[in-house]
Amino acid sequence: MSVPTHDAPRAPFASFSFARMLTAAAVFAALSGSFVAPAPALAKTATPKAVLDASAVAVPDRYSADTAQQIFAAGGNAVDAAVAIAFTLAVTYPDAGNIGGGGFMTVFMDGKPYFLDYRERAPQQATRDMYLDDKGSLVPGMSLVGHRAVGVPGTVDGMWQAQQRFGKLKWKQVLAPAIRYATEGFQVEPWLQKRHDDAAKSFAGKTNFDVYFSNLKAGVTFRQPELAQTLTRIASDGGREFYEGRTADLIVRQMYGHGLVTRQDLIQYKAVWRQPVTAEWNGYRIVSAPPPSSGGIGLIQMLKMKADLKPAFDGLELNSVPYIHLIAQIEDRVFADRQQYMGDPDSYKVPVGKLIDDAYLAQRADEVKPDAVPGATPVNPGLGDAMPEKAQTTHFSVVDKWGNAVSNTYTLNGPFGAGVVVDGGGFVLNDEMDDFVTKPGEPNQSGVTGNEVNTVAPGRRPLSSMAPTILLKDDKVSLVIGTPGSSRIFTSIFQVITNLYDFNMAPADALAAMRFHHQLLPQKTIYWEPYQPITGELAEQLQASGYTLAGQQFNGDVQLIRVDGANPEPAADPRGVGVGRVFH
Ligand code: GLY
Repeated sequence: MSVPTHDAPRAPFASFSFARMLTAAAVFAALSGSFVAPAPALAKTATPKAVLDASAVAVPDRYSADTAQQIFAAGGNAVDAAVAIAFTLAVTYPDAGNIGGGGFMTVFMDGKPYFLDYRERAPQQATRDMYLDDKGSLVPGMSLVGHRAVGVPGTVDGMWQAQQRFGKLKWKQVLAPAIRYATEGFQVEPWLQKRHDDAAKSFAGKTNFDVYFSNLKAGVTFRQPELAQTLTRIASDGGREFYEGRTADLIVRQMYGHGLVTRQDLIQYKAVWRQPVTAEWNGYRIVSAPPPSSGGIGLIQMLKMKADLKPAFDGLELNSVPYIHLIAQIEDRVFADRQQYMGDPDSYKVPVGKLIDDAYLAQRADEVKPDAVPGATPVNPGLGDAMPEKAQTTHFSVVDKWGNAVSNTYTLNGPFGAGVVVDGGGFVLNDEMDDFVTKPGEPNQSGVTGNEVNTVAPGRRPLSSMAPTILLKDDKVSLVIGTPGSSRIFTSIFQVITNLYDFNMAPADALAAMRFHHQLLPQKTIYWEPYQPITGELAEQLQASGYTLAGQQFNGDVQLIRVDGANPEPAADPRGVGVGRVFH
């Protein structure tokens, strides 16, 4: 690809390490006796006594499980392992693992829950109608493929902040496995070639994707030397290198004349620590993703409404017609609220408390009727006019023997994101801009619509459905769970949690059970999945009840760890190639 001969001015960075600077500041403070907030590098937690028999992970590929093994063997904790897994997946799972995208991390550390939002942001030059032509019509594919689909990436700052705040190992140590996979290569398996081949068709002639990925073929040892250099710079200079150093230069150069992300956008990008959304349910405390995700709220709404409807659910067989009918009505209400009230909390005051309020959800559950005719009554958002998402995302769950946990979901949005590779940097950039409402009323690639609260605006974060979730029992980790799947994310997590706790299934069975999906639009549609299609009598009865059945490629790749006493029990979704592993 051609590169520009001039560029925006460089920020004064890179001649020193940010970590070294913080450490020097703390040493100065200690020597001078003055008080300054402790530098993150020195704020590592002391090693407490082990409370579990083992550490464990449930991860989307075997390479990241090997990485976790090395990190735990070196004395790392759940956050060290999570950060090392995330960087490894950016190399070995490149359709979703990333440094050019963003995500969310729910952490339980030393008995307290935390949430880190490292979602992408719209570039400062982004405008509400940037995906419309001069007649006001959406330009097909513009928010999905190519430079203008790219949001300012958040993954590296997210990993940097998480590891600096909670990790025990050195930053360089947690990047080492990823750098090795990028340098020495990894064996490509057939599933990855298939994902590559599917994505390559949509990028053909539009992006530089094939320059970097045409060799991603089953059986090949795939090496990524430019990515190895990028990761090595980040390892040496700290996470801000991506935003202020040579990597930033390469991103800006890639964008120049094609995309909107500037050096200023990168300098300004900071991951944000937020209060996780929490709720009491069935004797557990749910800790999940707040806005800018709809995932945690959606999950809590579904679980609470189902509990409110216990008399109606009593005796119903899992995934029977009346069961699916009740769940679909719950989902209508959740998606109606999602489209009306949810967006970036830094732009709109999302009424989180009201949306998960017990009385409100009881009243919404009361509208759900066993004898309702599908689609007969419009389902509106429940809070009135109080206020004006085949995605490729991936999730991993981690617990360490000290009782800490990380639930992390991160994404490029579509498979291999926008298909744009940073020349010289060797990594793909996201197409997260499609999670905005590109035109009010028009569905995005996940078929969800929205309104003003989620339109494109400079610096705004697009609404997500990701829901990295931790369930606590008596203030201890009981379940760590999450999945990819865009608008299918929280409906998939809901089904697995229900299988575990309402139907008392073992983790592997809870994952293997049939899953379906329904959302507000298209009306009356029940989506089934190739893993366990809805066929035969069940299909006939659902159609006779007024539902339309539609196949979809995907219904999640749930990675979970259930902690039973001192025993962590990881399980990976049989729909993917994930691995559950325990480290004694
Ligand atoms: N891009 C998928 C999500 O954030 O929900």
